[in-house]
Amino acid sequence: MAEEKFLIHGGARLEGQIAVSGGKNAAVAIIPAALLGSSPSVIENLPDIEDVHVLIDMLRALGAKVEFSGSVMRVDPTTVDSYAPPARLAQKMRASYYLAPVLLGIFMRAEVPMPGGCNIGTRAIDQTVKGMTLLGAQVDTIGGVINVKSDSLVGAEVYLDCPSVGATVNTMLTAVSASGTTIIYNAAKEPHIVDLANFLNSMGARVMGAGTSIIRIRGGRPLHGSNYTIIPDQIETGTLMIAAAATGGDVIITGAIPTHMEALSAKLLEMGVYIREEDDLIHVRSNGRLRAISVKTQGYPGFPTDLQQPMTALLTVSAGSSVVTENIFDSRFKYVAELERMGARIRVIDNTAIIEGVERLVGTSVHATDLRAGAAMIVAGLLAEGETTISGVAHIDRGYEGLDRKLHSLGALIERVPE
Ligand code: EPU
Repeated sequence: MAEEKFLIHGGARLEGQIAVSGGKNAAVAIIPAALLGSSPSVIENLPDIEDVHVLIDMLRALGAKVEFSGSVMRVDPTTVDSYAPPARLAQKMRASYYLAPVLLGIFMRAEVPMPGGCNIGTRAIDQTVKGMTLLGAQVDTIGGVINVKSDSLVGAEVYLDCPSVGATVNTMLTAVSASGTTIIYNAAKEPHIVDLANFLNSMGARVMGAGTSIIRIRGGRPLHGSNYTIIPDQIETGTLMIAAAATGGDVIITGAIPTHMEALSAKLLEMGVYIREEDDLIHVRSNGRLRAISVKTQGYPGFPTDLQQPMTALLTVSAGSSVVTENIFDSRFKYVAELERMGARIRVIDNTAIIEGVERLVGTSVHATDLRAGAAMIVAGLLAEGETTISGVAHIDRGYEGLDRKLHSLGALIERVPE
């Protein structure tokens, strides 16, 4: 596929109403989980993004029958005949390793290449290995492949050293195929963990406590196929809220879950943005210069690391000095150099960025170094003077459904052009 870039003419105010798509990080856990059913599942409200297409290719390579049209996917797992997804696909995304516990449950073995995903720091998998091992699997990661097998999976108590999203998902997915009860302590509490638990329960599993730090899973298959609608994307919602605030806009985001957005909404209110929430909509309005704030990323319900980058772009022009502390990933400030090329004043010391708000950014050519860095470049381009060119659009397409199209419909002057 030819490389593309975005051209943004900054300064246009975003106005109008826009619907948010289904959640990426929920989708990439729920689609592999559908393989655990003894009959087909239908999953609705899926985002049409590159990561979902890569997963479809992986499921088909494993022998599953998958149809995807609009936002609805039908997965028939009854023909799955392989426990080893192809490396060239698995390495394209982080969530490919969710196939390891799923295939382990089906075949009692799996060979899944080490996952790819955004280059935002160390992305260790030791807690996944710990969880699966405690449940009775032998896990070996030599040679860039997660090689896992077991004679019998039995529930156990698993204490996670950090509330890792990936390790919580992988331990849950192993536990549903194990006999007996598994208890995960210090589990991740993200909305997509709750969504995965709800999906598994709709297939006949018994997962309790998701959304708190202790999850109990009474294992035991078979699970059956299910019809399920996934949650809206928390990070797309947040990106749209930040983009609206950045342009002095007046935007109503529909199909969202406002309670998932509390950490961001609180920060935007502190900056002087007007926010109104009602049922599934969030109304964001702003005018005038916003105030500097401090932000510390944390697991849910704290401020999400995935919004750190677009938020930093907004803070580059807020009045005063802001402090952004990244507590989840050890290298998620690489994109700051791109913002500096547009005139931002940012000093990064270890995991902290100190941002001196400037009057304006000026458009230039920048690169999206990863998915959310891409969102940051878009926010910067929208608020900058003149024209911004963003390369690395493939990163953005991996995780946002038609973000350029959605912003354009709100009045942004954004075009997708060949590189
Ligand atoms: N960690 C360990 N050991 C482990 C697992 C994690 O030390 O076994 C560390 C990691 O090195 C990292 C931190 O814990 O520093 C967080 O890792 P976590 O496992 O929670 O993240 P993840 O599962 O790799 C998911 C999302 C990310 C999101 C993070 C944090 C998916 C597919 N990815 O990643 O999403 O940033 O949780 O909420 O769900 C994105 O959407 O742009 C994205 C990167």
